[in-house]
Amino acid sequence: MSPLIKLTSIKKDYMIGQSQLSVLKNVSLSVEQGDFISLVGASGSGKTTLLNIIGCLDQASSGEYLFETINLSQANDKKRSSFRSHTLGFVFQQFNLIPHYTALNNVALALTYQGISKSERESRALCLLEKVGLKDRATHTPSELSGGERQRVSIARALVTNPKVILADEPTGNLDSATSQSIIALLKTIHNEGKTIILVTHDMGVAKQAKRTIYMKDGLIVEDSK
Ligand SMILES: Nc1ncnc2c1ncn2[C@@H]1O[C@H](COP(=O)(O)OP(=O)(O)O)[C@@H](O)[C@H]1O
Ligand SMILES: [Mg+2]
Repeated sequence: MSPLIKLTSIKKDYMIGQSQLSVLKNVSLSVEQGDFISLVGASGSGKTTLLNIIGCLDQASSGEYLFETINLSQANDKKRSSFRSHTLGFVFQQFNLIPHYTALNNVALALTYQGISKSERESRALCLLEKVGLKDRATHTPSELSGGERQRVSIARALVTNPKVILADEPTGNLDSATSQSIIALLKTIHNEGKTIILVTHDMGVAKQAKRTIYMKDGLIVEDSK
């Protein structure tokens, strides 16, 4: 079977004054449909940069990015943002929820550009909140929720568009260890239901729970447990 995602010789450089900083040096990676990958490595090793390139939030300096048959290497902003909102779901360390929106509205908002009615958006959002165990918190705003609950809302938001891939950057970075474990358990359930997940973490205990662990060091993949 051909891979879902195929990165070939991805490089990312920044110019800092006159000198060039190579953040990704030569990264090639294939992600299969149904993979559950953890990207692990020291702070500054390039994990977020790589995830953001996969997520079309950032663009490589060179190399090729194929998603199924779609070549995203040279895609313009419009194509990349449309691809992003239809195909990918994001989970961030800082949750990135809208403070004055309820949990329900935070989740339903992700469906705004899908051309469906408000009542359907809300019923789908409620269904996802139920899935993450927060049906009875639907009318709460983020400040009325615990950290773990906020992260569950953001996982519901990531799933509500039924994306092909979930990209999670340090999703347990702001949570205590018991809460982290419950979030990882939720991601495992989502993976077992068939979703492809790529998780960035610097926590080996979290990383080990994925099906496949990729180790990054200084802008390179140095080991892949595949
Ligand atoms: N916009 C930027 N401009 C310059 N350097 C950057 C930029 N973004 C990231 N970097 C540098 O790239 C390196 C990798 O960063 P990052 O991908 O965030 O690492 P990680 O997520 O593994 O901690 C770091 O040295 C960081 O300072
Ligand atoms: Mg990072």
